[in-house]
Amino acid sequence: MENTQIVILDFGSQYTQLLSRRVREIGVFSEVLDFTTTAIDLKKYKNLKGIVLSGGPSSVYAQDAYSIDIEIFNLNIPILGVCYGMQLITELHNGKVELADNQEFGKAILNIDFKEDKLFKNINDKKQVWMSHADHLIKMPEGFIKTAHTDACIAAISNEEKKLYGIQFHAEVTHSQEGTQIIKNFVYDICQAKKDWSMEIFIEQKVKEIKEIVKDEQVILGLSGGVDSSVAAALISKAIGKQLTCIFVDTGLLRKDEAKKVMDSYTTLFDMNIKLVDASYTFYLALEGVNDPEQKRKIIGKEFVEVFNHQAKEMHNAKFLAQGTIYPDVIESSVKGHSSKMIKSHHNVGGLPKDLKFELLEPLRTLFKDEVRKVGKELGLDQKIVNRHPFPGPGLGVRIINEVTKEKADILREVDDIFITKLLDWNLYDKVSQAFATILPVKTVGVMGDNRTYDYVVALRSVNTIDFMTATSSHLPWEFLDEVTNEIINKVNGVNRVVYDITSKPPGTIEWE
Ligand code: XMP
Repeated sequence: MENTQIVILDFGSQYTQLLSRRVREIGVFSEVLDFTTTAIDLKKYKNLKGIVLSGGPSSVYAQDAYSIDIEIFNLNIPILGVCYGMQLITELHNGKVELADNQEFGKAILNIDFKEDKLFKNINDKKQVWMSHADHLIKMPEGFIKTAHTDACIAAISNEEKKLYGIQFHAEVTHSQEGTQIIKNFVYDICQAKKDWSMEIFIEQKVKEIKEIVKDEQVILGLSGGVDSSVAAALISKAIGKQLTCIFVDTGLLRKDEAKKVMDSYTTLFDMNIKLVDASYTFYLALEGVNDPEQKRKIIGKEFVEVFNHQAKEMHNAKFLAQGTIYPDVIESSVKGHSSKMIKSHHNVGGLPKDLKFELLEPLRTLFKDEVRKVGKELGLDQKIVNRHPFPGPGLGVRIINEVTKEKADILREVDDIFITKLLDWNLYDKVSQAFATILPVKTVGVMGDNRTYDYVVALRSVNTIDFMTATSSHLPWEFLDEVTNEIINKVNGVNRVVYDITSKPPGTIEWE
């Protein structure tokens, strides 16, 4: 709260998180809060300099339209309404919004009508902006002037005296050519915010805070080898050293040599206790005969919690449980505007029984993924860990289609290792967002030398994405795929066919299960 200078009130737009990230990228800490946040709540923010009202999927004229506490307009804090936010400002100031005949989705050209407007300082006329709206303003709100338009709509409004601004377009989206400058104008010129957000400052503050909270108590953390829990561990160890014990569970569903690599890099890099628990046998046993993806996920989640709890109970003196929860997890589980349908039950460490009575320590819960990576780099974490592609909580369990067996897990580990090593060799790893292999429950006929083979099919998948909500398949060079395929067929016993998945998300998901 101390750092927060800009608050984004969320009305459920798919771009809300992006708004917050853009503000942070220019050096000011911002937080996303639910649209029901009141003026009294906001008064608790000592350094609040500006408020952004996000976009949203509903219409301001609908019966149960989301609105804000109108006392917020009396706080004398600048407000920028984006899309739905601008329409809401309009509706609440006696203007009118209606369903448009000319709906705009995608690129539009911005014609600036009032160049002196503070929001448009140093902005060139007739630049491209990104639109995504069905409704538009048909009557200006009282006390406001129109400051820009497109061929189809009133694109910006302002009331400089009251420091209220509205834009119909999405300045936070990179397709809006001068979007960052518009956000800078709002944050620095209009709100007079101070540049005070950087990862160095974050680390300094958190280390101090963790020391104050933990004092001389013990902390445990479930390490997964992924970026978030690794960075959380590094940060906590910087603050309290050996008072931290990390537990790393080998589920049998990890990648090749993963347990060894994690143990090696952590024991050499950090001052902490780390314990490896080999629970692979228990996991394979629990998964025997299970084909259904959701059931598999639930079993893996449950087993994980059980192993972890058992270990935790052995550490009688631990008072805190640390987790690598990051900001998108927090927003998604706390902001009411999000009502997306459950496609898969994502699993992370959680569901701890009440009798453990740990206090939670989640030092990364205000950070976005790219910020977490920066913190990792600052703390000296191995680049390979920091820049790693995401790996799902249930691990290879969701990459072995149908029943999980050790035999298939071993085959898949080899295939995956060849694919990833080749991506690194060809300098392609950092150019794609996530790459992996999946083993299918089908055997097909092949020929090797003069012999008939009857072996498994594996599918390679590589996607490019910004937020993992939508994704397209990576256009990997044909020669590369050829080389990887040859190596897999020649080196991995049990596989005689390789396919490349080019499905985008949607309609596919990234993982196959
Ligand atoms: P999907 O398959 O839903 O995946 O398109 C989107 C991203 O989430 C990862 N993923 C998971 N991550 N626990 C996680 O922590 C899970 O249960 C899980 N399932 C999928 C997936 O690898 C991709 O990056």
